[in-house]
Amino acid sequence: MKVLFLNGPNLNLLGTREPEVYGRTTLADIEASVRARATELNIEIGFRQSNVEGELVSWIQEAKGQFDVIVINAAAYTHTSIALRDAISAVGIPTIEIHLSNIHAREEFRHKSLIAPVCRGQICGFGQKSYILGLESAVYVNETKK
Ligand code: DQA
Repeated sequence: MKVLFLNGPNLNLLGTREPEVYGRTTLADIEASVRARATELNIEIGFRQSNVEGELVSWIQEAKGQFDVIVINAAAYTHTSIALRDAISAVGIPTIEIHLSNIHAREEFRHKSLIAPVCRGQICGFGQKSYILGLESAVYVNETKK
């Protein structure tokens, strides 16, 4: 089984970016913890970050036939990107939406996710653990794929 983790804008700044919201863990630390859990679960991982919306769209398109499940933290594009939503819908790869923070407990503009309706589910509010929960959910989603 192969799972592609995609990370959107500003997540490359984790560790120093608003630590009171996102903690002090870097994206490299998160990737290492995801890879360690993936090894235990016998899952192959792709792990990428981009600040560019179109690059994320291209990676979703290219995942077709390469990955079984996508786990995405689309960051701010969650709330704005019809292009990401359409890409997820177009490729038909089961996708899980994740966030470090609880977007529903924050500013109102973060309550709306444009990608949620085309994702299998959403995990948010558990800090870096959201990534591990995303990975574990990917196993279930893959087993129950339609
Ligand atoms: C985020 C939440 C988004 O609202 C925000 O724009 C981010 C990070 C999270 O992981 O909590 O950049 O996706």
